Parts: sequence; C-alpha cells; structure tokens
Amino acid sequence: MHCGRMRSIFLAGVGLCALAGLVAADEDAVATGDRLAALLRASRSVVSSHQDLINDQSKGNKDLSGERVVAEAITIFAGQKGTSIPSDSSSGLDKLLFDAQMAAIREVVDDHQELINTKGVGFKGFIPSTFARLVNERFEEKVGDKARMKVTAPEGQIRNRKARADDWERHVIDDRFLSPDWPKGKSFFEEVEMDGRPSFRMLIPEYYSASCLTCHGQPKGEVDITGYPKEGKAEGDLAGAISITLFK
Ligand code: HEC
Repeated sequence: MHCGRMRSIFLAGVGLCALAGLVAADEDAVATGDRLAALLRASRSVVSSHQDLINDQSKGNKDLSGERVVAEAITIFAGQKGTSIPSDSSSGLDKLLFDAQMAAIREVVDDHQELINTKGVGFKGFIPSTFARLVNERFEEKVGDKARMKVTAPEGQIRNRKARADDWERHVIDDRFLSPDWPKGKSFFEEVEMDGRPSFRMLIPEYYSASCLTCHGQPKGEVDITGYPKEGKAEGDLAGAISITLFK
C-alpha cells in the first residue's frame, strides 16, 4: 500500500493511513491513471509492430489509418488483465479522458499519413517514442485543464527537451525509481499541487527491453538511426516514466 505525502501528513497523527488503505477517491484516480497508461502503451506497441510497414520504401499507401491504429490498440488494451474500457456507467471524467486519448491517437496517425505513405523513403522517424509524445501533446490540447500526460526520463537520458522532468517527477525518479530497493514496475502517486491546483499525480516506471537498445544501448555516444547519441543503457535499466496528472 502506498500513502501519499499529503495524506500521510493529515493522517499520520492518528495512524489511519497505515490502517485504512486507499480511500475510494484514490482508488478511482489510480484506475483512471492505469487505464490511460495502458492505452498509451497499447497504441505505442501498435506503432512499433508496424515499423517495417511504415519504413517500407517500396510501398506507397500503407493503409495504416488512425482508425486502424485505434482499433488495434483497443484490441491489445482489452486483452490485458485488469483493464476495462470505460462504459456509460463509468464516471463522466473517465470516459471523457479515454475518448480524448483515443481521438488523440487517431488524429496523430491521420496527421502523418503523407509521411507514412511516402514511397522511396525508408526510415521515417515515426517511431513509438515520438508518436507517444505527439499523442500526449494532443491529449493535453483537448483536456489539459482536467488531465495531463507525458513520458519523461532520468536527467541524463533526456532526448527531447519537452520530456524533461519537473521537480516532482525528478524527485520521484531519483529518490524512488532509481533506488536499488524500489520494486520493479511499482508506480508512485501522490496528491500535490500542480500549477497552483490540487492534483493527483502518478508516475509509472518504464524499463528498456532488448528492442530499445538499438537506439538507447551501447556503444554510448554513437549516433542512432534517429540522429541522437545512444545512452549506453542495458536491458532492464530504468528508461523513463509515464507521468499522469489528474486535476481535482
Ligand atoms: C529507433 C530508435 C528508438 C528506439 C528503438 C526506442 N527509442 Fe526511445 N526514443 C527515441 C527518440 C528519437 C526519442 C525522442 C522522441 C521524441 O520526443 O520525439 C526517444 C525518447 C524516449 C523516451 C523519453 C525521453 C526523451 O528524452 O524523450 C523514453 C522514456 C524512451 N525513449 C524509452 C524507450 C523504450 C523503453 C524503448 C523500447 C521499448 C525505446 N525508447 C525504443 C528513439 C528510440
């Protein structure tokens, strides 16, 4: 069980935090955050699974529409344990955020049709990491007053400046996720202020798998296919974190 800092301060005196577990509001927020992270990951793996198609220079029309990517992402999402698509009985916010995320995925893919369908160009740079950043930016344009999402990383591993961690994210990454005794995959959440507003923030760690290392692995400093120097990382190292903010 996890106790957010603010709640610990409020309840520490009576020891309720340790006893009561998560309050219902937190449980809902965690479920919302987990769902948003799961759909982002599912859509990223769809884009990953189609890299050969996207980068096929012999082919013009790839038939990879936003609609198709959303449909394939939903199939992956729905097949995962513990995930559920918000139904009409879900809270209005849940459904609104999920719909906004689906729309963001669809729009980002549709906006890149010309690039994706270009014949004669191999590697196009429409990779999962970039795609995810664009989806998160589009999501913020739609619902930024209610929620935000981003993928951030430890200080030395930032490629795109937009991915830089803010103070809260940096502390969680440095003090918790990078600490040797932090359980692998365990997320962290806390009620804190963001932009002067009370909010629920959640950070979900991500680790490199073998497939990431062509770009993020050895030899450190060698320029990868995307033009960035490789980070020299190994399989299982902390790659970054999905950061989700739900404003109250
Ligand atoms: C084809 C090369 C390539 C592969 C493979 C790749 N990445 Fe990346 N990664 C990038 C690029 C380029 C960016 C910057 C994306 C952007 O913001 O446009 C990035 C950004 C990131 C970021 C955000 C940090 C930042 O500075 O932007 C994380 C976290 C990340 N990658 C993790 C992974 C993980 C985990 C995998 C494997 C599942 C992976 N990457 C596979 C090229 C790659």
